Amino acid sequence: MKRFGLDIWGDDNFFIKDDTVNINYGNRPSLLQITREIREKGYKGPLLLRFPHLIEKQISTLFDTFEHAKKEFDYQGNFHAVFPLKVNQFPNFIHALVDVSKNYNYGLEAGSKAELIIAISQTPLGAPITVNGFKDKEMISLCFIAAKMGHNITVTIEGLGELETIIRVDREFNGKSETPVTPKIGVRIRLHSSGIGVWAKSGGYSSKFGLTSTELLEAYEMLKKHSLLDRLWMIHFHIGSQMGDIAPLKKALREAGNIYAELKKRGALAVEYSQHGSSIERNYSLNEFANDVVYLMQEISKSKGVAEPDIFTESGRYIAASHSVLVAPVLELFSQEYHKKALRLKEENPPLIQELYDLFDTINRKNAREYLHDALDHMESLLTLFDLGYI
Ligand SMILES: Cc1ncc(COP(=O)(O)O)c(C=O)c1O
Repeated sequence: MKRFGLDIWGDDNFFIKDDTVNINYGNRPSLLQITREIREKGYKGPLLLRFPHLIEKQISTLFDTFEHAKKEFDYQGNFHAVFPLKVNQFPNFIHALVDVSKNYNYGLEAGSKAELIIAISQTPLGAPITVNGFKDKEMISLCFIAAKMGHNITVTIEGLGELETIIRVDREFNGKSETPVTPKIGVRIRLHSSGIGVWAKSGGYSSKFGLTSTELLEAYEMLKKHSLLDRLWMIHFHIGSQMGDIAPLKKALREAGNIYAELKKRGALAVEYSQHGSSIERNYSLNEFANDVVYLMQEISKSKGVAEPDIFTESGRYIAASHSVLVAPVLELFSQEYHKKALRLKEENPPLIQELYDLFDTINRKNAREYLHDALDHMESLLTLFDLGYI
């Protein structure tokens, strides 16, 4: 029976029937049937099939898992989540996301002006909007307009220059107003802890993003001086996406938790942490992640004698990655699978060829990795000999 690797990527969202992949939802249609019907209408493809129920499944799993962890530890803070728009900005996806997440007060995260405009127009009033990335005066003014429209918006400053702009815009925007409106303010902190993997440089002491501890104290003083301390609401950190290992995340959570506790004593109300890596090969479950976040925040809050913070996550790929299937017409097959009959061995072969053949002949599950490395090494030697004109 064909399996199509479903046990690796399927997560019970699909099943096999009569050698075709079917969707495990509603009237359980087959992908092949759906594709045929679309093609009959004249659309040849490639086709991107989107399944909003899979977006909903990920969102509800995220919220349920954190609610479960909160209950288990009797955690007093709330859990919130936003979708980082950089992960998928397509209207077909965003409209479905906003539609299926209505019951969760789920919001959007924007990292650029264009994304901010999407967030303002698509986020239901009251659901959180968080704004990261570098911001000029125009972008900060847009955040004030969003707050005025009634949005629950938090501008996360990445550097002291942005805070100065917020203070300036606040004066211009609210100077003569009897009902001043200022967005909530977050600070991105530059942790000593760094992540691992491709995005490791997003964090760590030498990363480009976020405020160092001395800058954080300076920001605190600036906010106090301009009577904006009550708007400081969130600390944010991001040590890199697709974290395959949970250990660096736990270290960063401890560091951020302690910064939260110190700020809390001075007036910051919540901590936003991000984020939850969603790469397939990650070695931790969502359960473990949620338990660790809740447990660590609780432990630090207890030991420092401050209230347990609200928790935010900006998981992106975890929410979006599995909701669509790309169907592409197969035009031609190229394969790297060579069959034994294609080997044109002679009666007597050079030693390297003979050794390669012996590896091929005796490879098994146990020695596969070692033999693969040996074979690659032999191939390299053969190609070098060829380049030098010896064979
Ligand atoms: C600030 C921020 N938040 C969230 C994400 C989403 O990361 P992931 O898709 O691994 O959850 C990213 C990166 O893509 C990011 O830069």
